[in-house]
Amino acid sequence: MESLFDQSVPWYFVDVPPTNPTMHKLLVEYAGVNDEEVQRHIANIRNKAWRVAPFPCVGSFLFAELVLSTFPVYREIVANLKSGAWARYPEVGCGLGQDIRKLIHDGVPKTSVIGTDLLPGLLESGQELFRDADALPLGQSFFAADFLDTSDENVLSKAVLDGTVDVIHATMFLHCFDRPTQLRACKRILTLLKNRPGVMIVGKQGGVAKGAGAREHPVKGPMGQVGGVVRTNFLHNVDSFKALWDEVGQATGTRWNVQVQEEEIMDRGYLYFDEEEHRWLSFVVSRL
Ligand SMILES: C[S@@+](CC[C@H](N)C(=O)[O-])C[C@H]1O[C@@H](n2cnc3c(N)ncnc32)[C@H](O)[C@@H]1O
Repeated sequence: MESLFDQSVPWYFVDVPPTNPTMHKLLVEYAGVNDEEVQRHIANIRNKAWRVAPFPCVGSFLFAELVLSTFPVYREIVANLKSGAWARYPEVGCGLGQDIRKLIHDGVPKTSVIGTDLLPGLLESGQELFRDADALPLGQSFFAADFLDTSDENVLSKAVLDGTVDVIHATMFLHCFDRPTQLRACKRILTLLKNRPGVMIVGKQGGVAKGAGAREHPVKGPMGQVGGVVRTNFLHNVDSFKALWDEVGQATGTRWNVQVQEEEIMDRGYLYFDEEEHRWLSFVVSRL
């Protein structure tokens, strides 16, 4: 097998693309990075993070893109978390946690945000990127855990989040899994949410165009065959994503309003999701 950390894969960008102005501002104002150091700082963190997680989101600098604040519902999320009407905001598979820092910079109490990811090294890379390991420590603001593990010993279970959450952010997360595992992950998401209409899941992920068939898609590159097992990403189109939530609803006795939109992949994701019919899917799924 090729080295896991092979830099010749197309989704490893040697140079940092121009930084999104909102992210640039966040790094200067929140993290205290010097204006002229921003690009170099991002590159240094990426080079370290690649040794932890040679994923497209790291190699293509997707972690330097902000997603949540591009949703119209962002204002409602910020207002409710700021006022305390909503107590907790967990982000699952948060990676370096860029959207969490944007929320805090926009006034959300740091005690309301929680980031969780399988890989502690990615959470630590985020703390280095944003220079806030003291303010947002592991075990308090960030939890390294397998989100699919529902045992009582899991640190997320111990964090007593079950049934306390109004909104969950899951970007570039569900597409990491095959279809049956996505169903498990959605059911796990439901265990965290309050049992009331209006709770929501917001996110963006790789998918396919409406006319293209949703399908299992082998994970590309050396990451696709860790341990000799071929892993797949299930890529949804708009209809199959809605069908997934119908199935979640049937299995849990709940009903969901699924708003999902497809977008062309023109940017940093392009070299991973590089086929004609690939799209980003942005979604807001709220309980009826
Ligand atoms: C494509 S990355 C996206 C990271 C981040 N959401 C972003 O958009 O920059 C997917 C993330 O999901 C995490 N992940 C994968 N499987 C997981 C699991 N079972 N439990 C928790 N996190 C997981 C990975 O470690 C990785 O950081």
